[in-house]
Amino acid sequence: MLMVSLLTASVVYAQSGSELFQKNCAPCHMETVGAYETGDTITNVYQAPYAKDVVKKLKAKTKNRAEFVSFIKDYINMPSKRKSLYGRRAIKDFGLMPALNGVLTDAQITKLANDLYDNKY
Ligand code: HEC
Repeated sequence: MLMVSLLTASVVYAQSGSELFQKNCAPCHMETVGAYETGDTITNVYQAPYAKDVVKKLKAKTKNRAEFVSFIKDYINMPSKRKSLYGRRAIKDFGLMPALNGVLTDAQITKLANDLYDNKY
């Protein structure tokens, strides 16, 4: 029994940024929840703005890696309209992002945010 929990702990600890992303962010930011069909065009429907767009825009809106990382860390724990850099349009279309407060440790979020900055997700 002890062996099992030790193993689990090391697996959790070793999670890469992209695994963290797949589990905690992709369900809203990458996966489609449906599609609109108009004529011959099919438009994917997401629950949140597409992750690659969010990263691209936030990189343009922050000065450097440190600012990008600290924005992500703050926003995912406590999103707000006032803080939003991605834009109010997304909040209007999708609603405010639910707070992930406590879901990820500080170290995990740092790793994840740096991997987003490096486009590794
Ligand atoms: C339950 C769905 C959901 C999950 C899970 C989720 N997000 Fe979001 N996220 C949203 C929605 C909706 C928005 C658009 C509204 C907004 O900006 O608050 C958003 C916006 C954002 C933004 C743009 C903030 C801005 O400037 O407005 C960032 C950055 C972000 N998410 C990062 C993440 C990261 C990183 C994760 C995983 C750790 C994550 N999100 C998980 C729904 C989600």
